[in-house]
Parts: sequence; C-alpha cells; structure tokens
Amino acid sequence: MSATVAIARVLLPAGLEQLQQRFEVRIGGLDAARERVLELVHDADVLVADPAVPVDEQLLDAAGPQLKLVANFAVGYDNIDLEACAGRGVLVTNTPDVLTNATAELALALSLSAARFLSDAESDLRQGRWPGWDPAAYRGLELSGAVVGVIGLGRIGTRYAELCRGFSSELVYASPTARPEAERSLGARRLELEELLGSADFISLHAPSRPDTHHLIDAAALEKVQPHAVLVNTSRGPLVDLDAVAAALDEGRLGAAGLDVYEGEPQVPESIRAAPRAVLTPHIGSATVKARDGMARTVAANVIAVLEGREPPNPVAI
Ligand code: DGY
Repeated sequence: MSATVAIARVLLPAGLEQLQQRFEVRIGGLDAARERVLELVHDADVLVADPAVPVDEQLLDAAGPQLKLVANFAVGYDNIDLEACAGRGVLVTNTPDVLTNATAELALALSLSAARFLSDAESDLRQGRWPGWDPAAYRGLELSGAVVGVIGLGRIGTRYAELCRGFSSELVYASPTARPEAERSLGARRLELEELLGSADFISLHAPSRPDTHHLIDAAALEKVQPHAVLVNTSRGPLVDLDAVAAALDEGRLGAAGLDVYEGEPQVPESIRAAPRAVLTPHIGSATVKARDGMARTVAANVIAVLEGREPPNPVAI
C-alpha cells in the first residue's frame, strides 16, 4: 500500500506531480477550513503545511501516531508547534535558499517604493488628485548612500544587504550572534538594536517570529527611530505592532513603511491600511515563478526522502 500525503491547502505542480507519481495524495484546497484539514490529515504519513496552516496538538492528534513528517511549504515555520512535533517523533522540514533572492528583492522593492511614497503618489494619480508637477510634492529619501539597518543577518537579510551595497549604502546590522564573514565581505557593522534604530535611514526586518521577537518594533522602538526612517518588513507579521506603526506614520514620527506581512493575516487592521506613506503588499515575498516552483520541488524532495527512509535535505532543528 502506498504512503499517504495530505496537503492541507495546495502544492504547486512542480512538486505535486512528483508526489502524485509515488504516493496517494489528498489535497485540501486553498480555502480548506480547519475542519476539512483535520479530516484530511487522518491516517496520513505526511502533512504538507504552509504559513496559513497552524500545526498544533489538535492537528497532530487528528493525524494519528503514523505521521512521520510535517513538510512546510515555506522557509518560516512559526506556524508549527515544534515541541509538539518533537514529542511525537514527527520530523519537520522547510524550504530554505530557493526563495532568498525573491524575498530580498521584494525587501529592496519595498525599501525603494516606500521611500518614494509610490503608493500614495500612484493612488493620487489614479483617483484624479494630481494637480500637476509640483517641486515640493512627494520628496522622498534616497537609498544611495543611506545608512541601512538590517535586523537579522541570515540568508535573506544578507542578500538584502548585498543588494543595498550596490547603492553604496552604509550597512549596519543587529543580530544575536556576530557575523564576521558578512562584516568582512559587506563591510557591515554590528550594533545594538537601540543604536541601529536611532541611526539607520532604512530599517529592514529579517528575523524569525519567536516570543523574543514579538513586537520588536513597537511604540517604544518607534520613539527611537529618525522621523525620516523607512521601515520594511518581509519577515513575519508578529515582529511589528501595526497600530504603533500607523500612529507613527500619522504623526510624522516615521518617514514611511513597506510591509509585506501582518500579524493575524490575512486580516490587516484599518489603522495601517489608512496610514499615509505606507506601501502594503499581501505576503508576496517569495512570489516569483522560480522561487515558488523551487519551494514546491523542495517540499517534494523532503517528502520523498522521508518516505523512502532517507534523511530529508532540509530538516528544521528542534
Ligand atoms: C516563507 O517561506 O516563509 C514565506 O514567507 C512564504 O512566502
């Protein structure tokens, strides 16, 4: 009897077809409700999850003791209760590397577009509110030569820093551990978080969502930033207190924000949707053809390895 793979929502064909050729595959669909996922996972050998699928005790119970692997269709795995998986001997895998360029490029795009108020400017034009060329209007910030503060210098943060170096930016970073290699190759200086917040023109978040990074950017942190600073978040929503960012934008204490991820997404609070100088995208950091196909193939490679009794290529350390 072939093994069963339950895909809680969807997996793109680049990975799905490989699984369908080998195993029995059940697919929940993009709009699968929790009840449907609980049903689907029953008796499965593998669960394919994604950032919108909380993998908790309830879901692991519904799966049953034969479950071997939770393969996340994402590099971030804050949707998964790692301890609960470890307690049951369930492996967890993710999809690193293949989305590094895509996500770093979106962070760069948000940095540039927020700094130049592109959302407000475009919406003024589309809504017929553009009275004509005005030398005093929409005067933004240049990335060239700016101080760029990267919070979290992992794969994506490092790639973002490399891209910014092309703009002759001065790079500073905050990280729990020093990155001597990045300091050498990028000329990046490590600062304490407070110092980075006070000195950076651009602040880009690339840290994982964990209890110690929850609301890393809150009202108190925003009091430290320069009033022209641009805040960018392509990591995870819970790192940022959105109401505090909206208030800082409204009151002119923050220059601009480029956000791709939100606490409680897909709900996005009205305060930030209505805030000025904010460019908001719907969690599309890894949304390139190359990255998303690469992620799907990586999911398949992990599932196939585990079901064939081999070590998966991308285990998440628990
Ligand atoms: C990830 O892989 O963690 C991304 O956020 C999904 O786009």
